[in-house]
Amino acid sequence: MSRILSAVAWPYANGPRHIGHVAGFGVPSDVFSRYMRMAGHDVLMVSGTDEHGTPILVQAEKEGVSPQALADRYNRVIVEDLTQLGLSYDLFTRTTTRNHYAVVQEMFRTVHKNGYMVEQQTMGAISPSTGRTLPDRYIEGTCPICGYDGARGDQCDNCGNQLDAIDLINPKSRINGETPKFVESTHFFLDLPAFARALEQWLSTRQGWRPNVLNFSLNLIDDMRPRAMTRDIDWGIPVPLPGWQENPNKRLYVWFDAVIGYLSASIEWARRSGDPEAWRGWWNDPEALSYYFMGKDNITFHSQIWPAELMGYDGRGSKGGEPGEYGHLQLPTEVVSSEYLNVAGEQFSTSRGVVILVRDMLSRYQPDALRYYLSVAGPETQDTDFTWAEFKRRTNDELVAGWGNLVNRTANMIHKNFGAIPEAGELQPVDAALRATTAAGFDTVGRLLGEHRNRQAIGEAMRVVQEANRYLSETEPWKLSGDRERLGTVLHTAAQAVADANTMLAPFLPFAAQKVHETLGGTGTFAPMPRIDEVEDLDDASRSYPIITGDYAATPRWASVPLVPGTSVAKPVPVFTKLDDAIVEEEIARAEQA
Ligand code: MF3
Ligand code: ZN
Repeated sequence: MSRILSAVAWPYANGPRHIGHVAGFGVPSDVFSRYMRMAGHDVLMVSGTDEHGTPILVQAEKEGVSPQALADRYNRVIVEDLTQLGLSYDLFTRTTTRNHYAVVQEMFRTVHKNGYMVEQQTMGAISPSTGRTLPDRYIEGTCPICGYDGARGDQCDNCGNQLDAIDLINPKSRINGETPKFVESTHFFLDLPAFARALEQWLSTRQGWRPNVLNFSLNLIDDMRPRAMTRDIDWGIPVPLPGWQENPNKRLYVWFDAVIGYLSASIEWARRSGDPEAWRGWWNDPEALSYYFMGKDNITFHSQIWPAELMGYDGRGSKGGEPGEYGHLQLPTEVVSSEYLNVAGEQFSTSRGVVILVRDMLSRYQPDALRYYLSVAGPETQDTDFTWAEFKRRTNDELVAGWGNLVNRTANMIHKNFGAIPEAGELQPVDAALRATTAAGFDTVGRLLGEHRNRQAIGEAMRVVQEANRYLSETEPWKLSGDRERLGTVLHTAAQAVADANTMLAPFLPFAAQKVHETLGGTGTFAPMPRIDEVEDLDDASRSYPIITGDYAATPRWASVPLVPGTSVAKPVPVFTKLDDAIVEEEIARAEQA
């Protein structure tokens, strides 16, 4: 048994989530966490909404509300979206809690004390017409590295490199199109070159990472420069140093604070659990494992900035140093990054209107249909397209006709012939072969899930389903009414295969898993679900917010659990809803109207 930190990227609280977001960080992290709990590990799955920085400011300005009001609104919307999708966070919180502020400031102070935050003059952009500072994200231009002409001042979404606004070719303000003026400003820079050695050493010992993620991360080391960790902005966490703390126009950079969320959320979880030190098991213990889930535009921040912050805190860069009160914090075991999910070749983008919102999708379709699609056809190692035709086909041909039909046929025959799970008599080779298939399935699917190869894992689980369907065609129980013992053996064997496949599919399809469990006469919680609690801020009773949390202890074991003969089986109701052919046209028309 290991302690496993499941660290899930924090969505910006600047709008509802679209299915491209949950394809990247959401479903893969939940599948992994559910599997690891079933395999007996002690999983801590944390995240929250990312509420600082320009993405929030831009949207707040657009909606004419304060940044905090905007974050409050979308924090609730996102909490709702993710809960509906069944994402089993131990804690989903937010970055505007007092706890998060305190943890971020402790991190900053110690990294600074250890000598890795260097004060430097830099050129910052201002708007010539208003005289106000123009944050990097408000500036657009041509990427000096890859030539992409929609690069932002902080990052190029095409090549993934971090940028400085001043290096953009032909920079323009996104607000009014004017050319920004660059003036001198003082900032704190994280001394990345001081960690180059240690980062390289750490990356060179990583095993099992997706090759593109590892190569991308290794390449970053060739061009390591100090990075500004403060901004000329009035929305963010104050810089905890004399002379800075009081300055309303200097704040910590949103990415400096957001990645610390993994730690602050773990601490908040521990404080809420009644054992405030409990987080240390996942952070201080070198045996504990940590997996970080995100889309590929986040890799830099998780394989370079975050490890550098951790090393700076720990005093593990070239300048040495001592950790603060949190002690030695462990570096990520693996950065698990997905590629992009596109709609018919176009990257999902809220600003360009290319979106399918999670909440719209869940208002019309079953959450497991979306989870299935994203698992079987998601952007695991390369960009993939979402199309409604493919969504309909996968749902109808695979979920409904493959899995749902197997469950239904089996339960129906048991109900009609026995009313309860029958005893199995002596097994024939065909029965034993199906048993062997399911037993092997646990090993194969489990191994693949542990390696984040979800597409292959769900494919193998569905192969077990196919084999079970083939078993029914071969043994033809509907012709066995004259031989009750043989009929009982076949239906028992089929039901056991259904139960086993259901266990293997539970990380992907938790809503269906609960129903299938009940269809076979099971009681109690089989696939635990998250819930929303309204809580008080631990350090400021005047603030309250919703968290996602849950009790996931009732998780089933990752193993074949023998069905008990005599357990009554009622007439089944279909688990999955078949989609009408017309939905494809309807959804396309809907998108065109929007
Ligand atoms: N909010 C960022 C994004 O959507 C992700 C932050 S991940 C974190 O790209 F770990 F840094 F919080
Ligand atoms: Zn680029």
